[in-house]
Amino acid sequence: MTQGKSRVFSGIQPSGELHIGNYLGAIKNWVALTETYDCVYCIVDLHAVTIPYEPSELQRRIHDLAIGVLASGLDPERCTLFVQSAVPEHAELQWLLNTVTPLGELSRMTQFKDKSGRVDTINAGLLNYPVLQAADILLYLADRVPVGEDQAQHLELTREIARRWNGRFGEYFPEPQALIGGGKRILGLDGASKMSKSQNNVIPLLADEEELWSVIRTAVTDPARVRRDDPGNPDVCNVFSLHGFFTSDEERAEIDGLCRTAGIGCVDCKKRLAANMAAELAPIQERAAELRAHPERVREILHEGARRARAIASVTLGEVYERMGLERHES
Ligand code: TYM
Repeated sequence: MTQGKSRVFSGIQPSGELHIGNYLGAIKNWVALTETYDCVYCIVDLHAVTIPYEPSELQRRIHDLAIGVLASGLDPERCTLFVQSAVPEHAELQWLLNTVTPLGELSRMTQFKDKSGRVDTINAGLLNYPVLQAADILLYLADRVPVGEDQAQHLELTREIARRWNGRFGEYFPEPQALIGGGKRILGLDGASKMSKSQNNVIPLLADEEELWSVIRTAVTDPARVRRDDPGNPDVCNVFSLHGFFTSDEERAEIDGLCRTAGIGCVDCKKRLAANMAAELAPIQERAAELRAHPERVREILHEGARRARAIASVTLGEVYERMGLERHES
C-alpha cells in the first residue's frame, strides 16, 4: 500500500458498453478518489462469464471497457487498473471464502434473484458471484469501495464474510465500507428501472451528440404531461433529474420554471440535455478515439496494472493460506 493512504477497490463488468449509469454511479467517483487514496480498479471478466455471453467478443469488450474508463479520466500513473483473470489469486481466495459464506445469505441476494429469473438454468457461478466480489475487495485489504446503490447489499455481505473469516482464523481483513456517490441510482430511459444494459434502457457514454439525441428523444418524461401545453412536474421527470448532472444550476432553474408553466416542451428539454451531455462527454470521446488508435498502450497499462495488483494479492493470499493452515506451493 502507498504509505499512509487507505486503499480503495472497485470493479466493473465487461458485459456491455459503458453507460452514463456506470459513469455517474461509479467511474466519476473512481477518478476523483485517485487524488486521495491508493486506488485499485478491476475489469471483472470472471464475473461477466456467469451470465450468457459470446466468447469471441469478450476480449474486445474488455479492451473497450479499459478504453472507456481511461478516457473518463482515470490516470494509470495514479492508480492500478487491471483485468481480474490476470491475477489468479482472485479465484483462489474466492474458493477459500466460500468455506465461511452461509448459503442462505447467497440465495437471498437481490441481484441473484433478479438474474436467476432471467436465465433458463441457474449456474452455481451466479450464486457464488458475491463471494468472488468479496475476494476482489479483501485481497487488497481495501477499506473503501466506490459503487452505485445496487452494490450495497454485496458490500454488506463482503463485510459479513470478512467478519466470519476473522472470527474463525484471527483478525486480518478490514471490513470495507461502500462509498456511494451522488449518482447512486441512475434510472434508465423508461424513467422507472435502474439504467442497465440488461434492461436495454441505457444512454451510452461513448456517443456523440447525434447518437445521444437519438437515444434521449425516446426517454420517458412526466407521465401526467400528455400534451405540449400541459404543465409538467420536473420533480417526477427523469429527464429533468438527468439535467442535474450535466446542466448548470442557472439553466436548470430556468427549465424548472418553464416546465411548470408549459413554457418549454419535453422535446426541447431533451434537446438541451443532449447538448449539455455532449459537451461534458466530448473530451472523453476524444481521449477514447486516441486510445483506440493505440491498442498496445492500453494493453501495456493493463499488463503493468496486473503486475502491481499481483504483488499485493500474492502477499494477502500467502497470509490467508498460513492462517488457514494451508501450505502455498510455488508454481
Ligand atoms: P457493474 O459492472 O454492474 O457496474 C459497475 C458500477 O456501476 C454502477 N452502476 C450504477 N450506478 C448508478 N446507477 C446505475 N444505473 C448504475 N448501473 C451501474 C454499479 O453500482 C457499479 O459500481 N458486481 C459489480 C462489479 C464488481 C465489483 C467488485 C464492484 C465485481 N467485484 C468489487 C466493487 C467491488 C457489478 O456488477 O458492477
